[in-house]
Order: sequence, then C-alpha cells, then structure tokens
Amino acid sequence: MYMASSHTTCSFLSFFLLFLFLVIVPPQVLVGARSLNGRGRRSGGVTGDGLCELVVIPQGYKCQEYKVQTEDGYILGLQRIPQGRESKGDGKKRQPVLLQHGILVDGSSWVLNPPEESLAFILADNGFDVWIANTRGTTWSPTHISLNITDQAFWSFSWDELVSYDLPANLDFVYQQTGQKVDYVGHSLGTLIALSSLSQGKLVDKMKSAALLSPIAYLSHITTPLGNLVARAFVAEVTKWLGISEFNLKSKIVSDFINKLCDQPGVDCFDLVAAITGNNCCLNHTAVEYYLKYEPQPTSTKNFIHLAQMVRDGVITKYNYGSKEANMKHYGQVNPPPYNMSNIPKDFPLFLSYGGRDALSDTDDVLQLLDDLKMHDVDKLRVQYVEEYAHVDFVLGVNAKAIVYGPIISFFNTH
Ligand SMILES: *[C@@H]1O[C@H](CO)[C@@H](O)[C@H](O)[C@H]1NC(C)=O
Ligand SMILES: *[C@@H]1O[C@H](CO)[C@@H](O)[C@H](O)[C@H]1NC(C)=O
Ligand SMILES: *[C@@H]1O[C@H](CO)[C@@H](O)[C@H](O)[C@H]1NC(C)=O
Repeated sequence: MYMASSHTTCSFLSFFLLFLFLVIVPPQVLVGARSLNGRGRRSGGVTGDGLCELVVIPQGYKCQEYKVQTEDGYILGLQRIPQGRESKGDGKKRQPVLLQHGILVDGSSWVLNPPEESLAFILADNGFDVWIANTRGTTWSPTHISLNITDQAFWSFSWDELVSYDLPANLDFVYQQTGQKVDYVGHSLGTLIALSSLSQGKLVDKMKSAALLSPIAYLSHITTPLGNLVARAFVAEVTKWLGISEFNLKSKIVSDFINKLCDQPGVDCFDLVAAITGNNCCLNHTAVEYYLKYEPQPTSTKNFIHLAQMVRDGVITKYNYGSKEANMKHYGQVNPPPYNMSNIPKDFPLFLSYGGRDALSDTDDVLQLLDDLKMHDVDKLRVQYVEEYAHVDFVLGVNAKAIVYGPIISFFNTH
C-alpha cells in the first residue's frame, strides 16, 4: 500500500483514537482493519461502479451519480435518489434534501441498513428528492483537478475547507438542479460544518432548514479517558502529526498502531467503540461485516488536529496554525477567527437531536450550543433529547425511524 512508504517514520500517538468519530463497528474493526489491508482498493473493500449501482439500485430505487467540483478543485461524488420505491415518475415536484455524513464515514452510511431503517430510503419513500454528499478524500470523492490523492497537498485540509468549499459546492449544485431551497440533514461533523457556515450568515438563501443529529459544536466536555489523554498530550505533538497527511484506518500503519494500543494497560479494545462514541443501544451487530465493506473512510490528519484544538481550547475557531506569525500569514491576525454560533440567523429552522449516551456530542457541550441559540425564534428551533442513544445510533440505529426520522420528516413538512 502506498500509505506505508512516506509515513513510516511517524510515530502515532495513542490519543489519536479519541477521534475515530464514527467507527461504526464493535471490536471487529480491529480485526477488520487488519484483514482488509490486502484487498487492493485504497479505502473500503469496495470496488467498481459507485454507490448507486452497489447499494441503492439493488434495493429497488432509482439512483443517479453526479460529480461536483469545489472552488478549490476537488471533485465530489454526489448520489441522488429522486423518488421513492413505489412512486411512478408522476412529474410531481419533490422537496430536495441533502444528507451530510460525519467524519471517518461517507455517504453510504445513510443507505447501509434496510430501506425501512435507513434515512435516505425513508426520506425518498416519504416524497423527498434525496441527495447524498461525500466529503473530499472518501471513496466516492477521491479526485482533484490537479492533485493526486497520494500527494500530501491533497490532504491539506481541515473542516474549515468543508465549510468553505464542499458544503457550498454541494448545496449550490442541488439548488441549481432542482430550482428549490434544500433541506439538510447532518450527522456529527456534518452538523458542525452547517452550524459554522450558518453562523457566517451563509447558505440561508439556498437552505430551507436543517436537521442536526449528534450535534457537534463545542467539544470541551468530552470526558472519556481517551479524550482526556488527547487534551493533555496533544499540543507538543502537532508538528509530528503534520507529517501524516492521510488518516486511514485501513492502512497498515494505522491498524498496526491500533493493535499496539490495544496491548496498553488500561485500554480495553473490546470496549473501544463504546469508549469513543458512547454506548450505542440500537445497532445491528450482525450487519457489521457488511458495514465494513464501506466504512471506515479516510480523512486528513489536519482535520483531527483541528478537532483536537477544539477539545483543548474550548472554543470554535478556524484552524490554529500554532504561532502568531503563522496565523497572521493565513488570517491577517494573530488568533484564528472564531465561528460564533450566536450569529446563526434566528429565524432559520433548526431541528437538533442529541443522545444521552453520546460520548462525542456530550450533553454539556450540546447545552452550551443551545445557550448560544437561546435567542432563536422558539417556533424555529426544535430540540429532541434521546436518552438511550449514543453517537452512531442516529445513523444506524434499527429503531431510528420511529424515534428520530419521523420527527425530522414532520419538521421538514411544517417549515
Ligand atoms: C497517482 O499516483 C499514483 C502513484 O504515484 C499513480 O499510480 C496514479 O496513476 C496517479 N493517478 C493520477 C490520476 O495521476
Ligand atoms: C440485521 O442484519 C442482518 C444481516 O444483515 C439482517 O439479516 C437483519 O434483518 C438485520 N436486522 C435488523 C433488525 O435490521
Ligand atoms: C458572539 O456574538 C455575540 C453577539 O452576536 C456576542 O455577545 C458574543 O460575545 C460573541 N462571542 C464570541 C465568542 O465572540
């Protein structure tokens, strides 16, 4: 694998693991990471013709693949499920909705469960025109107009670039194609990029409303042992990390690292996913092998560093380049510019759903976000608390339709 060549000198740090934000699988991921190494494709065990062909069409839905180019040259795969299984192309205008996945997964996370459990299918069957986004560097978005995915420069992005480039590119595209304002559903990092963008007053002309699952904004209350480790140990290591431009769970160097970590006293890999994402109540554990064909996905190390800065500093700002001079060079000021969530337009319809067992979207951090939104128009803000849910339940929970997706659909239909 190409991964091994340029990165072997870097020593991985144990606290890295906190940020396996959305590892959807129980302990098998550790085995999986090892056994999938030899499969040939650079990420996922997946080859061939796109998410539509592989997953959506076999379930009996129409599906189209699109390519969207960002202003900074990335080419993003976007899938569209234009109608439900039962609908006959009746020419009726359907409300478009854009689904934005979280970190370390891709758009497939919305379609991996059966149609009656997966959000993308449920929305299509309820009359929506569903568009599935895929962040730069994931399986369906591996190209750039001039950079090769093996170049370090390809991976020189954090979530700032997802706010500035990926989200606007996808949203503009859907808006142009459909001629309608777009509803949005984000999970995890997909909530942060929407909130950040809205806080800058952007998107509102093309976005109709947003449903945010496991909202991530503040990260300072992450309380897991691994999280504490990160917060303490992170700073000194930044420059070492910057040598590692792609973070891919399925690469040999990362899986070796994980295996080594599991031998450390006090780290119980059996509980690793629970330790990172919280104790998910409602996943289908027999579907793990299938999930592993599509997830986890790579992202950039810089993205993790940016998130770790939020854990450490307790604020939401652009990426901190680590010195006054470097920040001055990038931003024209010594501190990275903040994203101020109080500036989200007060009449923009927002649905937030957060879980009582979510170790990443900690309830205290969500409450801090809600405090920023305290002046929001009351009839434009709907907040749902799901006591038994952890981070991954919101996407793959077998009962999410009844608990979360039904309320989202009625929220969309009334705003
Ligand atoms: C990217 O680089 C790899 C390895 O260096 C090479 O095999 C591949 O052909 C390149 N891809 C493109 C599109 O240039
Ligand atoms: C769980 O996954 C298995 C294997 O994919 C599937 O046969 C079963 O129907 C799933 N159960 C539920 C409740 O989704
Ligand atoms: C955010 O903006 C609000 C008012 O718009 C202001 O009161 C608050 O101090 C700002 N917060 C930060 C962290 O800049």
